[in-house]
Amino acid sequence: MIEYNDDKRIFTIHTKNSTYQMQADGFGYLLHLYYGRRTLGVTDWALSYVERGFSVNPYDAGNDRTYSLDVLPQEFPSQGTGDFRSTMLNVHDESGTYGCELRYVGYEILTGKYSLSGLPAVYANDNDEAGTLIITLSNERLGLTAKLLYGVLPEKDIITRSAIITNDGKNPFTLTKLLTSCIDFTHGDFDLITFHGRHAMERNFERTHLTHGLFTIGSRRGMSSHQYNPFMILCEHNATETSGNCWGMQFVYSGGFRAEAELEQYGQTRLMMGLAEEKFSYTLKPGESITAPEVIMTFSSQGLEKLTHNFHDCLRKNICRGKFRDIQRPIVLNSWEALYFDFCGEKIIDMAKCAKSLGVDMFVLDDGWFVGRNDDNHALGDWTEDTEKLGGTLGELVGKINAMGLSFGLWVEPEMISENSRLYREHPEWAMSIPGENPVRGRGQLVLDLSRHDVREYVYRSIAKILDGANVEYLKWDYNRSINEVYSHSSQCQGKIIYDYMLGLYEVLERINTNYPDVLIEGCAGGGGRFDAGMLYYTPQIWTSDNTDALDRMSIHYGTSFGYPVSAMAAHVSVCPNHQTGRITPLNTRYVVSMSGAFGYELDPVKLTDDEKNEIRRQIQSYKNDREIITDGLYYRLSHEDFFAWEHVSRDGS
Ligand code: DGJ
Repeated sequence: MIEYNDDKRIFTIHTKNSTYQMQADGFGYLLHLYYGRRTLGVTDWALSYVERGFSVNPYDAGNDRTYSLDVLPQEFPSQGTGDFRSTMLNVHDESGTYGCELRYVGYEILTGKYSLSGLPAVYANDNDEAGTLIITLSNERLGLTAKLLYGVLPEKDIITRSAIITNDGKNPFTLTKLLTSCIDFTHGDFDLITFHGRHAMERNFERTHLTHGLFTIGSRRGMSSHQYNPFMILCEHNATETSGNCWGMQFVYSGGFRAEAELEQYGQTRLMMGLAEEKFSYTLKPGESITAPEVIMTFSSQGLEKLTHNFHDCLRKNICRGKFRDIQRPIVLNSWEALYFDFCGEKIIDMAKCAKSLGVDMFVLDDGWFVGRNDDNHALGDWTEDTEKLGGTLGELVGKINAMGLSFGLWVEPEMISENSRLYREHPEWAMSIPGENPVRGRGQLVLDLSRHDVREYVYRSIAKILDGANVEYLKWDYNRSINEVYSHSSQCQGKIIYDYMLGLYEVLERINTNYPDVLIEGCAGGGGRFDAGMLYYTPQIWTSDNTDALDRMSIHYGTSFGYPVSAMAAHVSVCPNHQTGRITPLNTRYVVSMSGAFGYELDPVKLTDDEKNEIRRQIQSYKNDREIITDGLYYRLSHEDFFAWEHVSRDGS
């Protein structure tokens, strides 16, 4: 699956249906040759050497003006090499001097898939499933070493990339841009497909014909965001669901990101993805490293449908982990739209009893269950149950619900802090805020500084206490604002915080996954504001959107389906008129839309008519009959223009 041709210093990665090729050329520059339909040949035809005005030449090329990194396709283009396109790596030394030319040093080919310390990444289920290629580049002046990591899952047509940048020199240097993946195309007429949105209307499909210039999407919010999903597809201009070449890139990271497509002077296209540049200024002292979060890539010569299937298979079996990867998830009844903050223990018991009689598996108590939390301005950070409101301890309430034969889930928002909380009064320095300035509030709350060890310890212990004190089998892990103040009261290097925050979050989630393997975590960020492969590594399903309107959900699910499997999309039937849009739709329509997901209800079952209750009983039964095909089968988009239609097909085609 990974080959090295010593004569020509060519590296080839084969998957079942694709080939990826690169070459360390005579000057030691790592050039990209090819990514496309599987081929057995050498693809150095991609390289053309022609003198081009104002494209500068490396010193080593002497008087040869036909050699320029400004036009040659590259694997890891860095700033200051004579490549004036957008680059992946921008570095400056202590004097502020930019530039970092990278030359080839060596390679390693390993069996199995590399993993990334502290970051989520695609994993192999056994060593035969995957291979790893590591190519080392270096810059002598800075003492900078770049290890480029390539993972390959040949049967799944998946290639992954990451990079580890290390300071092997004597003086510090600072990274101001670090992307993970780049594909340079020397020719082609392309469309770019991206997924934009906003709160309660995420991942709208948008297809744009690429014209000259730099097209970028991204997030500066410290979260992958509702506004742009960290996923994009480049496809031939005439590609369809079932024909044409398409390339996809998906970021395995939940913080800010940047994705770029640049059509340059000679009609060549550069496609890149990686960390957001904004508020990122990462100084590496001698001996220190930083890892570029992983990008998953796939290629399909059979249109968008095949590309989608490749991503679905990879995310389902090589990103999602734990026992909930393979077993059917509980059908939940969530209290949010039924009760908001206004409830008592008795009401919960009534709802749970009724939910049980309909066939629901789990009752999920959403926001409002802890002391002081009767609106969204209070108490985040103080995770003590409100025994008065609940009519006893959380453990007692869960006990009663379990006795009915229902399991129990609970909402938490562990990364946040309300100023009106005990925690804030005791530890104002744990909130991200810039000294001397008032912080910007989001939903009336501030963000906890997860780059700090003491904060991570507090967050973990708070969650562990809840899980130890009551039989909570599911957590809805919410996150309801963007990060604005990228400042840690305990750091000397504020440019590191935006990245270190995310490492901190992943550390806490990993610890909970490890110590509580029977607890299912559902990701959530005001609906689908952090719907990404990074979160799916820890939380195998994510609340897709706060918009539960069936018609809006069809386009949200349509967009989401390009990169993410149905098993990841939590979807609930809610009441009519819909709370977000006021629209009235038949109960059956709401069911048909929600059943294409990790299914549940978000309503007060006590208020249903007998006819509605009977219909819901039938829905639950029908979902249980079909859910294996829905969550593990193949998903086909049939139509999205005049009407939406989609199809689930069992793996054996029956
Ligand atoms: C935002 C979530 O997306 C909702 O489903 C709900 O859990 C609220 N937060 C609770 O505050």
